[in-house]
Amino acid sequence: MKKKQKIIAVLPGDGIGPEVINETYKIIKVLNNYFNLNIKTKEYHIGGIAIDKFGTGLPEITISGCKKANAILLGSVGGPKWNFLPLNKQPERSGLLKLRKKFNFFCNLRPAKLHIELQNLSPLKKEITLKGFNILCIRELTGGIYFGKPKGIKKNKNEKYAFDTEIYSEFEIKRIANIAFEIAQKKKLKITSIDKANVLESSVLWRRTVEKIAKKFPSVPLKHLYVDNAAMQIIKDPSQFDIILTSNLFGDILSDECAAITGSIGMLPSASFNEKKFGMYEPAGGSAPDIQNKNVANPIAQILSLSMLIEYSLNKPKIAFAINKSINEVLKKGYRTLDISNNKENFVTTKEMGNLITEFLIKEYEKNGKNIISKDI
Ligand code: IPM
Ligand code: MN
Repeated sequence: MKKKQKIIAVLPGDGIGPEVINETYKIIKVLNNYFNLNIKTKEYHIGGIAIDKFGTGLPEITISGCKKANAILLGSVGGPKWNFLPLNKQPERSGLLKLRKKFNFFCNLRPAKLHIELQNLSPLKKEITLKGFNILCIRELTGGIYFGKPKGIKKNKNEKYAFDTEIYSEFEIKRIANIAFEIAQKKKLKITSIDKANVLESSVLWRRTVEKIAKKFPSVPLKHLYVDNAAMQIIKDPSQFDIILTSNLFGDILSDECAAITGSIGMLPSASFNEKKFGMYEPAGGSAPDIQNKNVANPIAQILSLSMLIEYSLNKPKIAFAINKSINEVLKKGYRTLDISNNKENFVTTKEMGNLITEFLIKEYEKNGKNIISKDI
């Protein structure tokens, strides 16, 4: 019997977004045709393209489409074309940040794992990457300095000044810390909470509140680091981290650092959740307008984002695992997109990479399909 239909609201956005989203459609087709899923996708605009078509980065039709869906799959937003707009009208603020706030996606998971096959791409020394690393950045996504009020640019006499507010309530810190501890307990991981409690009041409350939550999870090892030290430790020995728990701004910065040391930002997915566990999934890398429409973007981060969606929003971890395995097999066989290729003459295109992963996923079905489906009820 065919499974109940699940709807994914697909928001391709700008830059390489639409190209890499196209590759996920190939995967979804295989999931429907072979893995007994019944996924229907519906596309909506967000970001720059939405500004061009509707005059706003997050049109009402996009919001209502997302509300009706089981999950959101997003490409990327922004590009130089919209840089002339005032900050609050730009695709990032009027599209992506508004969407995060609208759906209250306070919890952002960004896994940064070093692929064994791609060890040589990491900018870190071999002695360091040899130990491997697998870091899960858990970033608070709807609070802190991104959204804190007041913010603005004003004039006093003839001098302009600008200000933003880093603000966290105990409730917001507890909410994200609880999730980090639940994941850590379940997966037997340790937590490093990162703040600037030697300077910032908001960090003092952050640290105290994380300590309070930690009492409920005595089996989870917890350490605190100041953000400057953490930035250094991540490049000196990333293997010391399992879960990094941190605020919106520190998480933005440190998750890029974690991504960079894996060798390519084109490989990293992310997932964001609200309290009802409704999820949005997007690559951690940006819209990369410099390589837009050249058929060279790496679609793996987008496909891994789909895989996280299948795992968390559709509750099919075995099928997600099969997708991840297909990606690993493709990499093991030596296929590389431009960003992860050593040989700049000989690489596979965006579309070829999507086709390869699709073929390997069909092979995986032929080998293990019955097993995967029956275990993923
Ligand atoms: C990210 C991005 C966004 C952020 C931008 C595009 C607003 O850098 O998702 O990390 O700062 O959160
Ligand atoms: Mn960022």
